Amino acid sequence: MNPFPANKILIKRLRSANSTNDAAINILKNQENIDWIIADEQLNGRGRRGNIWTSPLGGLYASVVLSDDKIEYSHLSQLSILSSVVAAKTIEEIIGKNLIRSKWPNDIFLAEKKLCGILIESVFIENKFYVIVGFGINVKFTNEQNQAKFSYLQEISDKVSVEKCFNKLILNFNKIINIWDYGRSFTRFKNYWLMLTQDHGRIIKVRI
Ligand code: BTN
Repeated sequence: MNPFPANKILIKRLRSANSTNDAAINILKNQENIDWIIADEQLNGRGRRGNIWTSPLGGLYASVVLSDDKIEYSHLSQLSILSSVVAAKTIEEIIGKNLIRSKWPNDIFLAEKKLCGILIESVFIENKFYVIVGFGINVKFTNEQNQAKFSYLQEISDKVSVEKCFNKLILNFNKIINIWDYGRSFTRFKNYWLMLTQDHGRIIKVRI
């Protein structure tokens, strides 16, 4: 699949948003088009299971909208793993291989501390199904975030920038979603994710 026909990617950049996932949904509700939305900071960043995602300046907060008619609700679990692979590849291109681990369902850890979280939401607007994938990556150190709990790309690479990270994220997302082909090539991404996982042998809880 090509999520962005004619390779034209519509990106909206905001200085501040409550949540880029919410901003994307609002744009769709207003019947405008959007592919990616990025904000320098989020005032009400949301994590999974109702958690807060603290989002001060220095982090990457971006959401991508999938509006392809062939994407169905049943694809969501694969898209969750796939998005985690997109984030992992992006991060590895910046800080090098063998440093990160994935944690069920789609977190990325560096040195036992969370580096990246992903929030996937789906909505029906005017009978059309959309999937919104929100990426939060800790790029530069911030005062507000808890450095005991979170890791940052800047720990490994001092030349890192949100811009560079976002460019790579877009390219990897486009590339990987194309290869995925609505699940026909999922196995290779699942295997990559399994190679990175720190959950081998652990019991995990799955909420449906
Ligand atoms: C988690 O690990 O709980 C998921 C965190 C997801 C955070 C990102 S930041 C961009 C997008 N907008 C949000 O409000 N949340 C996601």
